[in-house]
Amino acid sequence: MRPAMIVILGAALIVIGVGIALSLDDTLDHGQEVYAMQKCALCHSISGIGGKKMALDGVASRLKPDVIRKWIRNPKEMKTDTIMKPYPNLPEKDLNDLVTFLMTLR
Ligand code: HEC
Repeated sequence: MRPAMIVILGAALIVIGVGIALSLDDTLDHGQEVYAMQKCALCHSISGIGGKKMALDGVASRLKPDVIRKWIRNPKEMKTDTIMKPYPNLPEKDLNDLVTFLMTLR
């Protein structure tokens, strides 16, 4: 390979890497926004901020993403007598980003 090619390939890889990092950043920001907009913090706390019913710190170490999805969509499926509110109408993208955000809480 010619040196110029290597430089171009290297630059392309950096651009792709930064792009992926930025889009993950957007996803996390949006996930956190959904968490705020849906008022999860009425009941849940993260780092001590929010409702006292249940801390979500470390939730990603306890639960798999698809289990977290079930909790949000239909909590009664997870625990029949839970007081948690279901979110059946949350748009799929909002749910995905919210779960991605929650998966950062290790
Ligand atoms: C009305 C209060 C309330 C609201 C609002 C609420 N939750 Fe919950 N949630 C609970 C309670 C209480 C539990 C624990 C299960 C139980 O004991 O009923 C729980 C459990 C969970 C769990 C399982 C945690 C674990 O470690 O087992 C997740 C994940 C969760 N909630 C996420 C959310 C998200 C995300 C939102 C916002 C979209 C939300 N909750 C809104 C009350 C609430």
